[in-house]
Amino acid sequence: MSELDLDSILAFAIKLALEAGEKIKAGQENRFASESASQDEKVNSVDLVTEVDKAVEKFIVEKISEAYPDHKFIGEESYDGQQITDEPTWIGSPIDGTTNFIHGFPMVCTSIGLTVKGVPVVGVIYNPFLDQLYSAAKGRGAYLNQKQKLPITGRIKPLASLGQALIATEYGSERSPPALPRKIRAFEKLTAHTDVGGKMVHALRSLGSAAINIALVASGGLDMYWEVGCWPWDVTAGICILYEAGGAAFGGKTSPSTGDVDAGLLAGRKYLLVRGIAPTQSETTLQVQQRFAKEFYDCTE
Ligand code: IPD
Repeated sequence: MSELDLDSILAFAIKLALEAGEKIKAGQENRFASESASQDEKVNSVDLVTEVDKAVEKFIVEKISEAYPDHKFIGEESYDGQQITDEPTWIGSPIDGTTNFIHGFPMVCTSIGLTVKGVPVVGVIYNPFLDQLYSAAKGRGAYLNQKQKLPITGRIKPLASLGQALIATEYGSERSPPALPRKIRAFEKLTAHTDVGGKMVHALRSLGSAAINIALVASGGLDMYWEVGCWPWDVTAGICILYEAGGAAFGGKTSPSTGDVDAGLLAGRKYLLVRGIAPTQSETTLQVQQRFAKEFYDCTE
C-alpha cells in the first residue's frame, strides 16, 4: 500500500463534507415545504432514515469512488456487514442526528472518516445548520472551521473530580430490555447524590448526534461522552478529531486505550470518550483520563 497523502485527503474530505452539508440543508427545506415528505423506519419506530440520508450517502460514495477508486467504504445506509480491514476504508454517516433532522433540531451533521489498518487517520464532521466544521488528520492537529485549534484555548483545565463533569449520553434507538433500562440505571447513578464520591455530576446532556457529542468533547465543551449501541460510522471521524485534540477513547471497562484507536474499539459499539485534561505532577494526561474512565465505570456498572 503506497503512502497516503493525508493533507490532500483531508482537503478532499472537508470539501465533500461541506457539499454534503448543502445537500442536507436543501433536503430539509424540501421536506418542510412538502406535504408528503416521507419518513422511513429502519429497525424500529425510533431508528429513522429519510430519503435525504440515502441521497447524501449515494453522493458521498460516488465522490469517494471517483477520487479513490481503490478505497473501501462502510456507510450507515448501505451497511451490509462489512468489516473494518487494514485497507484504506472510509466510514461515514451521511446524516448523524437523523431524528433531529426530521424535527428541525439543529444538532445534525455529516460525519466522514478514513481508517488505515483500522486506525482513524482523517475525520471531518460538519453541522450545516450551525456552520461548524470539525476536522483532523493524524499528526496534524484538530480544528474548528479550519482556524480554531482544538481544544479551544483554556478548556484543557484539570477536571477535579467526576462529580464536576458535564457528560453527554444518549437514549439511542435500542429501547428494549435489557439495553435501555441498564442505561437509565447508569443515568440515575451518575445524577444521584451518593454515587459519584458523594457528589452528583454537574449534568447529563443528550444532543441526539454521536458525532457532535464527540466533537464537543474534542473542543472541551463536554468532559465526556458515553454511548452503548452506536456504530463505527457514528464515531470514526470523531475519534480521529478527539485524539488529535488530546482526548482518549475507551471501549468496555476492560479495554482502556493506551495508544492508537484500533478496529476492535471502533467496531465494539461501546464508547467512553474523555476530553484532553491537563496532566498533574504525579500523573500523565492519559493516566488522569484512565482514572476518570475507571471512576465512571465503577459508578455506572
Ligand atoms: C444516531 C445518533 C444518536 C445515537 C445513535 C445513532 P443517526 O445516529 O448518533 O445520537 O445515540 O446510536 O445511531 O441514526 O441519527 O444517524
